[in-house]
Amino acid sequence: MHYIKIPIKKAESMKTLLLRNALLDRKRKVIRSTRYVYFPVISIAGAKTKKLIEGASGAIIDREGTARTETADYKGMLSAVLDADEMKDLTSGYDLLGNIAIIDVSDKLADKEAVIAKAILASNKSITTVIAKAGAVSGIYRVRRFRYISGKRTYIATYRENGSVFVFDVRKTFFSNRLSYERSRINALVKKAEHVAVPFAGVGPFAIEIAKAHPDAKVIAIELNKDAYDSMVKNIKLNKTGSVKAYLGDVKRIAKRHASWADRVVMPTPKTSMDFLDEALVLSKRVSTVHIYLFCDAEGGIQKAKKAIRAHAKANSYGVRFNNVRVVRPYSKDEIEIVIDYTIRKKEGA
Ligand SMILES: C[S@@+](CC[C@H](N)C(=O)[O-])C[C@H]1O[C@@H](n2cnc3c(N)ncnc32)[C@H](O)[C@@H]1O
Repeated sequence: MHYIKIPIKKAESMKTLLLRNALLDRKRKVIRSTRYVYFPVISIAGAKTKKLIEGASGAIIDREGTARTETADYKGMLSAVLDADEMKDLTSGYDLLGNIAIIDVSDKLADKEAVIAKAILASNKSITTVIAKAGAVSGIYRVRRFRYISGKRTYIATYRENGSVFVFDVRKTFFSNRLSYERSRINALVKKAEHVAVPFAGVGPFAIEIAKAHPDAKVIAIELNKDAYDSMVKNIKLNKTGSVKAYLGDVKRIAKRHASWADRVVMPTPKTSMDFLDEALVLSKRVSTVHIYLFCDAEGGIQKAKKAIRAHAKANSYGVRFNNVRVVRPYSKDEIEIVIDYTIRKKEGA
């Protein structure tokens, strides 16, 4: 039987990846040893899937497993009430933020929401609530509307990732579990006693995970949305990462107070990040690393983004070296989210 073997530290991000790609086999139990977690998988047939799993540090192995008896398989339950076409519409599964499952069903399945939600609740005891997306992520705070569907009526998620825990209101703050791999990737790049700036900090995941893994680092986290900032302050306490200094306000204003402070600047605001290249530069020490997340056209978008960064460097007389570009996820039919890691080198005396 196929399992994905993954070190415990990376288990949460692997689980997210498997759920997102509907690969987790819910009929078998997850196995844990002192150092590894073994996730049962349905199929790893394609080369693309194998690359995805191995790229996230997972090893595909064959081992003995045990069937789950305590919970039912939700797709199995639904196949009794949905026809084959409706089942096909369900392939994307659901997003899971700890206790809250988020469904996004097509109009065709709108009248089946309650049945789908009941099956999800019955299939996983840790899920208390099922809500549905009721709009796109929008506005400067990047939040989305949701509709309550079933279970306990709450919008407060308690979500664990890479050894940290985050509590937040899904209606009032942005949170994406799709960035969990990115958070562990950036975390692994942080060096001893670094100064790390996280503008656009949300409820604190990048800042807190870095502080937890690097107690000798100094981390600042800047957030404009008061609800997200308040959750971040609570999450800092919850994770005992008092070394994170949280600021409420606009990066444009707060960056100036930390001019030439950061060894590393993490810019996780893909919609508008390119409007903040000045702030990344202001925050940077003479030499620093920037991780900028952005949406771009799948065709030619990476080159265009690099060109814009090069032009900014030229206009502001600093050197730039591109270290890495990674596709984080597909975003829309023609767009992808990418991250560009680049080094800023300011001129002597600048
Ligand atoms: C896409 S979210 C990223 C949240 C978080 N980093 C994460 O990974 O979950 C972008 C965040 O930037 C915040 N934001 C937008 N404009 C801002 C600004 N000018 N200054 C500070 N924060 C800002 C939004 O409120 C939002 O929480």
